Amino acid sequence: MKNNGLEDVIAAETRLSDVDGEAGRLVIRGVSLDLLVERATYEDAAALLLDGFLERPVTAADLKARLGQARAEVFAHIHTADAALLNLPPVDAMRALIARLPDGEDFETTLRLLAAPAVFLPAVLRLQKGETPVAPTPSLSQSADILAMLDASLPTREQVSALDAYLVTISDHGLNASTFASRVVASTGAGLTSSVLAAISALKGPLHGGAPGPVLDMLDAIGSEDSARTWLGQALDRGERLMGFGHRIYRVRDPRADALKGALAPLVMTGQVDRNRIRLAEAVEQAALAILRERKPDRPLDVNVEFYTALLLDALKFPRAAFTGVFAIGRTVGWIAHAREQALEGRLIRPRSVYIGPLPQAA
Ligand code: ACO
Repeated sequence: MKNNGLEDVIAAETRLSDVDGEAGRLVIRGVSLDLLVERATYEDAAALLLDGFLERPVTAADLKARLGQARAEVFAHIHTADAALLNLPPVDAMRALIARLPDGEDFETTLRLLAAPAVFLPAVLRLQKGETPVAPTPSLSQSADILAMLDASLPTREQVSALDAYLVTISDHGLNASTFASRVVASTGAGLTSSVLAAISALKGPLHGGAPGPVLDMLDAIGSEDSARTWLGQALDRGERLMGFGHRIYRVRDPRADALKGALAPLVMTGQVDRNRIRLAEAVEQAALAILRERKPDRPLDVNVEFYTALLLDALKFPRAAFTGVFAIGRTVGWIAHAREQALEGRLIRPRSVYIGPLPQAA
């Protein structure tokens, strides 16, 4: 047996989401991603994912109001954090701040955990620029408030819709590495805060949620449409992976890429995005798909969620160092729903390994 990354191993039954890698289809609680993105706000998607996993039913409107209060409550933690913590890379600072919150499994803990990354990330980003953090506005939706806390001004309608679309698109995605980490921790009976901390730690690697920053680095390094093919070929010659391409499950285009490309369109049409960047990205995407087909004919490699994540979050003025943190803001609800499902319906996760080291010498 090889260390094959548990490929094709079924490690849980879930009613939360289904990833069909051959068809390129994602279903979240019975709703296909394209419909969900078109119709749902962040609060709608969060209420859908948490349905049946809280002590009491909760509507999207309830959640919006309670999350507003929770954001105001967690904001106070920013003022008690020391400078060393606040100067860590944004996702690490966010994780360290969340680690200071109480653990638990109830609705209050859930609210705190959904609110905390949304408040901590913009505050950390502003402090790192030498600016004062902006206090949350409880009456705003989660997406509008994140953007308001980031930029100290009210976002446009198109910006709020684009962030909602992003947060909904990445809210849950089967048993990815961070969600599995969340379920492993939940299976031991540790609380939701512990699950979320484990999940953030798994998310930040470049093979998972750490890819979108490097996607923008790649676009910058390529610089112009004419250089795309040569640059990509040289990167592959050096044995590098093209960030934003390939996926363990999808053998076709990641449906989330199109959902995010669609979410970018209103920003493009209203001139709220650098059109040159979009044109370059489209050219790089085409060149990368062609060169990957030539170089890896046996492995279908297509664009994944991170490619358009990079463009969308850049258009919303998040710095690239913060992209993984924004991913965590959206995925926390999926991690919590999975942790609750595991705690309520699962058993301790404890696989076995095959020992291939030396045996003790006979005396
Ligand atoms: N560029 C070039 N080659 C690639 C890429 C890529 N992006 N992705 C996979 N390959 C190649 C590998 O080099 C390997 O080739 P080989 O057999 O000749 O050595 C083959 O495809 C299979 O690679 P694995 O690592 O076994 O594939 P796996 O399913 O584990 O990888 C992963 C999935 C980690 C996402 C990979 O495609 C990758 O590294 N992509 C780039 C990073 C990225 O975009 N990450 C975000 C993923 S989406 C998310 O997690 C939210």
